[in-house]
Amino acid sequence: MPLATLRQVLDEAAKGGYGVGAFNVNNMEQLQGIVAGAQETSSPVIVQASRGAIAYAGPLYLRNLILAAAESAPEIPIVLHLDHGDKPETCLMAIELGFTSVMMDGSLLADGKTPSDYEYNVEVTRTVAEAAHAKGVSVEGELGTLGGIEDGHGSGEVHLTDPDQAGDFVEKTGVDALAVAIGTSHGAYKFTQKPTGDVLAMHLIEEIHQKLPDTHMVMHGSSSVPQSLVDRINAAGGELVATYGVPVEEIQQGIRHGVRKVNVDTDGRLAITAALRETLNASPKEFDPRAFFKPAREAMKQVVAERLTQFGAAGHAGDYDVIPLEEMAERYARSAVRA
Ligand code: G3H
Ligand code: 13P
Ligand code: ZN
Repeated sequence: MPLATLRQVLDEAAKGGYGVGAFNVNNMEQLQGIVAGAQETSSPVIVQASRGAIAYAGPLYLRNLILAAAESAPEIPIVLHLDHGDKPETCLMAIELGFTSVMMDGSLLADGKTPSDYEYNVEVTRTVAEAAHAKGVSVEGELGTLGGIEDGHGSGEVHLTDPDQAGDFVEKTGVDALAVAIGTSHGAYKFTQKPTGDVLAMHLIEEIHQKLPDTHMVMHGSSSVPQSLVDRINAAGGELVATYGVPVEEIQQGIRHGVRKVNVDTDGRLAITAALRETLNASPKEFDPRAFFKPAREAMKQVVAERLTQFGAAGHAGDYDVIPLEEMAERYARSAVRA
């Protein structure tokens, strides 16, 4: 099966009333864990690479790893998505490389830190959508900013999404998916106590869904940061401090109200780190890296399978055939002519 587009995968998720996990990838073991988790649960899956991931792995390695994944798992729709594109040039580079979906994060200026104004966001996102759609590639935009700066991305200021702006933004930009800011942040340190529905501003998701029932929403910063993983890391010599992530029940509540893409990076990082620390401690005489990477890959698989099941995506991999990019491009061209 060719790589799927975000647009098709999220349209199908909306029909089926479920969410699809978008998991970050940086290397082969992480990718194999993601794909194995999707295969085990028979789920569509979104594999996303940040600019940092592209720099770490190298663009060609990343592209070809994911093509290998798609060839090895033809029964699973797999989207290759650029996470947090900082400027149109980055998105165009990803499209050239073979990504089937890009995020133009115009909520921040190209420095990835300074909140932008609305006009700037509309302009860069629209520019990317025009170029991407001409090739059948999907586009995610972001309205509002997440909190947190610990991964080097973000302003440290939370600007919640304004539901009254959402309709105008989607119409002017033509995005296929809208990332909303509801009070989450990237990384492990999101909350100092378990967040309630109010802390998370879940009502914004409900309001946007009422206003724009056909718009697919994206929740960033959606790792749940399981206590069990934090405990395992610390028991094996780690020094993570007490922290809370986004409860799975809140994500499920979002999915009932139009959230279709759920971004999870940190939970995979924690699972891999727990497995690596435990195996390194348990086998001090071992020096074959495969002995450490195999349990790490398995840990990634488990977290991916668990989240895909919790998001309701399990069992949906075979619901549809992937629409090739060329046909997606024709569809966008036809809908532009009609508009
Ligand atoms: O944007 C946040 C993701 O967790 C990616 O993080 O930029 O460290 O790869 P990264
Ligand atoms: P987490 O840090 O909560 O996993 O969020 C990842 C994310 O939003 C990537 O874009
Ligand atoms: Zn994000």
